[in-house]
Amino acid sequence: MQEITDTYTLNNGVKIPIVGFGTWQTPNGEVAYKSVKTALSVGYRHIDTAAAYGNEESVGRGIKDSGVARQDIFLTTKLWNDDHGYEATKKALDTSLQKLGTDYVDLYLIHWPNPVKFRDRWEEINAETWQAMEEAYADGKARAIGISNFQPHHLAALMKSATVTPAVNQNYLNPSDLQPEVQRANATYNILNEAYSPLGTGDFFKIPELQELAKKYNHSVAQIVLRWSLQHGFLPLPKSIHADRIQQNTELFDFELSIPDMQKIDSLRGCGRLATNPDTAEF
Ligand code: A2P
Repeated sequence: MQEITDTYTLNNGVKIPIVGFGTWQTPNGEVAYKSVKTALSVGYRHIDTAAAYGNEESVGRGIKDSGVARQDIFLTTKLWNDDHGYEATKKALDTSLQKLGTDYVDLYLIHWPNPVKFRDRWEEINAETWQAMEEAYADGKARAIGISNFQPHHLAALMKSATVTPAVNQNYLNPSDLQPEVQRANATYNILNEAYSPLGTGDFFKIPELQELAKKYNHSVAQIVLRWSLQHGFLPLPKSIHADRIQQNTELFDFELSIPDMQKIDSLRGCGRLATNPDTAEF
């Protein structure tokens, strides 16, 4: 682990850069366009977006104008809750591809396991959705397919009919919530843990224990938490719209957290928000 372009290997053999640039809550338009371009210019080769973020168009433009070849970038997008089901999934992926200005994504994820719209029959709808995802994978529209916010029971239900095992499960995963049951379920299938909100969407900067560690290691709180995420074998997806922070969040490889300090950070459960329960969320 020496730079952000180092890779993990997914359970289907595809390589994925170990840090991704997050774009949740990055507004569509110039902000998303510029931050994606900046990220690619400082070395990120992995960009994470979603239909629900509303910024696929600007993310796609940023990629196009970055000067980095498409095949050198790992691009993820996600299927939103309105579009579960076989036909709707196929259409939604085509719409995302069109907005992103590309004919394939590297990773396509089901964003949420249990949308309100399908709550009475989520198992059946997820099975149909997954079949469409498997076909998109076979057709080369996605180099890998996966899930997001899936708890163990959602994963178990999906695996009843899946012929392709999800490559990734992207979750709210940070010192405030390590979601051990989710990690265990993922490990059973060799599914990579991607970590969204690795900085707790900004909740962690005032935590005294993290400030102390930042001082001790002579790095920022953001760098401490991202390094912790990597040392756990997670794939963090830090979001920023500021060039200096975008750059800072790549500088994670000139120090190593000791085991006691890893454990200290592990014990910070609840220092920020906890993961949302997908079965009771109102969307
Ligand atoms: P901004 O986008 O204004 O730079 P997460 O990745 O957990 O969603 O956290 C993102 C939040 O953390 C955003 O508010 C972002 O602000 C902020 N942030 C990202 N990187 C840094 C950093 N290196 N230092 C301080 N704040 C940061």
